[in-house]
Amino acid sequence: MATDSERLTTDYCGLKLKNPVIMGPCGLSEFRQGIRLAREAGAAAIVMKTLCTGTNIVRRRPSPHFALVSTGVGHYKSTSLYSYEHPNELEPDEYFEELKQAKKEAEQSHETFPIFASIQCFDSANGGLSTWQNVARQAETAGADGIELNLSLPMGHPTRFLGMWAEGEMAKIVAAVKEVVPKTPLIVKLSSQMSRLLDLVLALASMGTYAFVCFNRIVGLDFNISPNRSPAIMHKYYAGYGGAWTLQSYLAHVCAIKRHLAEKEISNVQICASGGIVSGEDVVKYLLAGASVTQICSIVYLEGYGAISRILKELDHCLKSRALTVDSLIGEGEKDVLEQDQIVNEVSPKIAYINLGLCTATEKCKCKQSCPRQAIDVDLNKGKASIKSEMCNGCGLCLYLFKCPHEAFGLVGK
Ligand SMILES: Cc1cc2nc3c(=O)[nH]c(=O)nc-3n(C[C@H](O)[C@H](O)[C@H](O)COP(=O)(O)O)c2cc1C
Ligand code: SF4
Ligand code: SF4
Repeated sequence: MATDSERLTTDYCGLKLKNPVIMGPCGLSEFRQGIRLAREAGAAAIVMKTLCTGTNIVRRRPSPHFALVSTGVGHYKSTSLYSYEHPNELEPDEYFEELKQAKKEAEQSHETFPIFASIQCFDSANGGLSTWQNVARQAETAGADGIELNLSLPMGHPTRFLGMWAEGEMAKIVAAVKEVVPKTPLIVKLSSQMSRLLDLVLALASMGTYAFVCFNRIVGLDFNISPNRSPAIMHKYYAGYGGAWTLQSYLAHVCAIKRHLAEKEISNVQICASGGIVSGEDVVKYLLAGASVTQICSIVYLEGYGAISRILKELDHCLKSRALTVDSLIGEGEKDVLEQDQIVNEVSPKIAYINLGLCTATEKCKCKQSCPRQAIDVDLNKGKASIKSEMCNGCGLCLYLFKCPHEAFGLVGK
């Protein structure tokens, strides 16, 4: 049985981490004060907000640049954090001074607290690849424990990073940076909005990438439909768009990437999952899918740095109660996910039944409208529902969508 400290520890990019929760790059990891708060809340490491060497258009932030967008149907609600917060406004010298000072503070408190730099130089007016190289060298000199190449920005560089050149550009950047800082762990942060994601991962993995951060938020847009207001919200441009709802989509991608790497027998490249984590259970799911570590961001905006401690507590509880460790979970769920041609074996036709002993049909009952095949009848006079078995295809909506207050529905083999 693992001890309390063993349960959460793991390795990432050759570093020993005390747990798998890293504070991701954003406005909360921009300055040493925020870095300290994340460290004190228990984060295992931090990635500083991306340093950008681009023009003012890329680096300046409009005001306001945050909105909460809520959507909902009936009682099903979803919230998204919508924001346009371009990379760090600091100059490279200021950025790396901040990194050095944050490292010094961690050392003074006798803590091992890896700090990763995040850089993004594709909008540089002059140097192109040499700007990436210069900034990477500076990161290494400043003592960064690793360098995240942010090739994922949701607001992106529309002409170069959306479309056919993207993969080639990325490979050139990774090769150029690797050449000048061969020993510093190089991590590539990806967007899920790529057309050839798996090929890209393989190509970049073969170039010495230590890990992939999967993923940044997606590109979003929202409109205001109130009268007398201009429709496009905030600064009237696309923005980063994310929320807890991204988790399932990103889990699928992480799982597919993990499998693809395994199929090609690449075992030394790690996945750091980022997107939609709001609880310790979410961290567990990403580990199961194949991530070695995770990053969190939006939930810390919504709840404060205390979210880090809460998530860690939940994670610890979840593992302890099952006598598991972080390392024992990595990729275990991925093994359980079938290939599409295998799921045929899992399909055994079923139909729904109603336990009439539990059914007390009333006007409030919604099971009839939940059925897409009109297979359910509700007889209010008899106070019972029934199923036309010849019309039922066992879809399960009556069980799982409009739940019967008495849980009267079940599925049986046909
Ligand atoms: C306000 C804000 C600013 C962000 N800034 C950066 C950034 O500078 N660099 C970067 O790589 N990711 C940035 N991100 C993306 C996050 O690091 C993270 O990948 C993404 O939000 C998904 O994780 P989450 O669902 O936990 O927020 C930012 C996210 C938010 C919400
Ligand atoms: S919702 Fe449940 S109790 Fe109501 S009619 Fe349907 S099966 Fe019966
Ligand atoms: S399983 Fe699907 S088709 Fe069958 S009764 Fe329920 S909702 Fe209708």
